[in-house]
Amino acid sequence: MLILGIETSCDETASAIVENGTNLLSNVVASSQEMHIKTGGIIPESAAREQLVSIIPVVKEALSKAEIKPSEIDAIAVTVGPGLIGSLLVGVETAKTLSLVWDKPLLAVNHLVGHLYANWLKDSPAWKEPQFPAVGLVVSGGHTDLVYMENHSKITLIGSTRDDAAGEAFDKTARLLGLPYPGGPSIAKSAEYYLKDASPRTKLDLFPRPLVDNPTFDFSFSGLKTAVLRLTQSKEKNARHTTFRLSAEIQEAIVETLVHKSLRAISKYKPKSFLLAGGVAANMRLRQEMQAEIDSNNPTVAFHVPKLEYCTDNAAYIASRAYYSQSKKLYSDISANPQLTITDSVV
Ligand code: KG4
Ligand code: ZN
Repeated sequence: MLILGIETSCDETASAIVENGTNLLSNVVASSQEMHIKTGGIIPESAAREQLVSIIPVVKEALSKAEIKPSEIDAIAVTVGPGLIGSLLVGVETAKTLSLVWDKPLLAVNHLVGHLYANWLKDSPAWKEPQFPAVGLVVSGGHTDLVYMENHSKITLIGSTRDDAAGEAFDKTARLLGLPYPGGPSIAKSAEYYLKDASPRTKLDLFPRPLVDNPTFDFSFSGLKTAVLRLTQSKEKNARHTTFRLSAEIQEAIVETLVHKSLRAISKYKPKSFLLAGGVAANMRLRQEMQAEIDSNNPTVAFHVPKLEYCTDNAAYIASRAYYSQSKKLYSDISANPQLTITDSVV
């Protein structure tokens, strides 16, 4: 089954063609990130305008790269939320129009659940299909959600952030340090300068690890932002800490908290697989620490993390999720929903 995916929830305009949920035939992503670097963050209206400019060329390119004619497609999948309303509408209305014109079924996809399905994309010869039950951690710019997946349709939220998301914490603290948007890659790069010369015994414990002793699986990252703000406003900053060192400290506080809660969830739910997903899953330190801790504490659990380029927003995981969920919603009931949560059904 060939599915054409469309994703426009934020500042990426993406389209991909995926066969049977796992075989990627093409994956095209146009990003308006360059524009947002100048403004230090996303201006929703500008992002939506860029979506309009890019959507048709991106869909055309996805078809031509896969060498597929519209008539050969079995269905069209589209992100319906969460995200920025103006951006979402461009994808949803385009998908609806194409589904009418080409006479193809339209499948709605929840962007947050979609992120997890980057783990179903066959990205190397060593790839193995994730097995259920699974515990998944979606860490993106706006969400930090831990879920328990019994199967493709039964997904339960077991913990989420009470304030800022992990990606948001990277983005906001980067801005405080004067590093460019998006903050995650900037902090990771800056931290790398510090870590390459640091002794492996160096302690990185300057900032709090909120809620680690709390019995829930919830997260809280707004305290980290406040701690970084206080430090950058104090004289101590320039005297004792370089931006490189502070970046390493911020990254470690976020990574350690995410790994800690994930391991607790694994101990409780005893899954066969653990799935890391979302833009923050592109963080090398997080990937390495999560792998190392799962290997040493729960060696029977298979750790899955997508190839770097499939962590950040793309339409390949949207097409993959659509294949496994096979949503049967009425065409007229499919509409953009910016407030969707990870457990809201779109099927
Ligand atoms: O999933 P995503 O591409 O978009 C949303 O759905 O939000 O995630 C974007 C987030 C941003 O906050 C960005 O700073 C973060 O992912 N990010 C990273 C890295 N690459 C992207 N965070 C830490 N380390 C990275 N290498
Ligand atoms: Zn995303």
